Amino acid sequence: MLNVMLVIFLFFYVSNIYCEPETVRDNVDYFSYGNNEDVVKNPDIHIPKDEIVLRPQEVKDWPQQSLNVGQITAVSINSLGQPVIFHRAERIWDESTFNESNVYQNLDKGPIIEDTILVLDAHTGSVLHSWGAYAFYMPHGLTVDHHDNIWVTDVAKHQVFKYTPSNRKYPSLTIGEAFTAGYPYRRRVLLCMPTSVAVATTGEIFVADGYCNNQILKFNAAGTLLRAIPSFSDTLTLNLPHSVTLLEHLDVVCVADRENMRIVCPKAGLKSYIDIMEPPTIIEDPTLGRVFAVASHGDIIYAVNGPTSQNIAVRGFTVNAVYGNILDTWEPSTGFTNPHSLAVTRNGSHLYVTEIGPNKIWKFELTDVYDKK
Ligand SMILES: *[C@@H]1O[C@H](CO)[C@@H](O)[C@H](O)[C@H]1NC(C)=O
Ligand SMILES: *[C@@H]1O[C@H](CO)[C@@H](O)[C@H](O)[C@H]1NC(C)=O
Repeated sequence: MLNVMLVIFLFFYVSNIYCEPETVRDNVDYFSYGNNEDVVKNPDIHIPKDEIVLRPQEVKDWPQQSLNVGQITAVSINSLGQPVIFHRAERIWDESTFNESNVYQNLDKGPIIEDTILVLDAHTGSVLHSWGAYAFYMPHGLTVDHHDNIWVTDVAKHQVFKYTPSNRKYPSLTIGEAFTAGYPYRRRVLLCMPTSVAVATTGEIFVADGYCNNQILKFNAAGTLLRAIPSFSDTLTLNLPHSVTLLEHLDVVCVADRENMRIVCPKAGLKSYIDIMEPPTIIEDPTLGRVFAVASHGDIIYAVNGPTSQNIAVRGFTVNAVYGNILDTWEPSTGFTNPHSLAVTRNGSHLYVTEIGPNKIWKFELTDVYDKK
């Protein structure tokens, strides 16, 4: 298999050089930082040709007006290309928010009374509409699926909710039991501070569960638990899976394995039950730090890390999910502080990153930097 790929690759690589000598840049694009000369001299470049690495360029003055929101814990993109964000209003997660049994301690404050879910105009960043008041206690993840259903996680309620486009008032599916931290056991599925959801085009649901259970749960579209990753027999261990993204064409679910400071991509088992035995792709690098969020487009994973240590910069990463190597790093001109979530548009044209203090959303345009020169 590898040999076949190598031959195919070599074919493309060689044919590129000889057929399109003017497009030498194709061969160096993948290293949009660093010294290009070194790269050109390196005969071992093994990256498929038509996968040009696009570079996130900050869109200045976006949003045009300040959003007046709390910590923006999540962003996802709907079918109209609009960013949808989830925020905590005045609420902050601190040492007193949960006790040692992971039970939320501020029930008396009631739910957040403001709209917590805002749909933004992609061009101006202004709020087009909003909902999600009186429903959530400590927002965390938000994912728009292929049918514009909205999936959110509330770490205080230890639950995942699915809202269909026609009913933003009552969830059509709920996973977990309200304010009950626990572990899924037989038919009773308890979660513990679930962080993030990814939904396959075929409807399977992947929940990162989360701050205490350290596993990914896979459900069918009806919400029946199918399996846990890692399974009992796996050698893989996760330490705070904080964000998940599906790369369906590779049949993997990639996880921001936050406290392990890496991205891991175990098999999702959507296409084959056999290859779930295959070991996961593990993306580890001393510069990664605590990976807070992952999003994907094609073979590319975009990731953001958070504050880790003095010598690890807070920034964005562009990663090749097939080879597991970091292709590029990026950040806005004034830098990131506490990035928490990111999303890429479906056609891969733009990227959004949200932060939890300062409470901010950034828009980036993904550009072929060589075109701009
Ligand atoms: C990609 O989608 C965005 C909306 O998300 C749109 O503005 C843009 O024109 C699209 N670009 C291409 C190349 O299709
Ligand atoms: C955490 O709080 C819950 C209810 O508020 C209580 O039942 C539980 O015993 C507490 N756990 C610890 C370790 O204090």
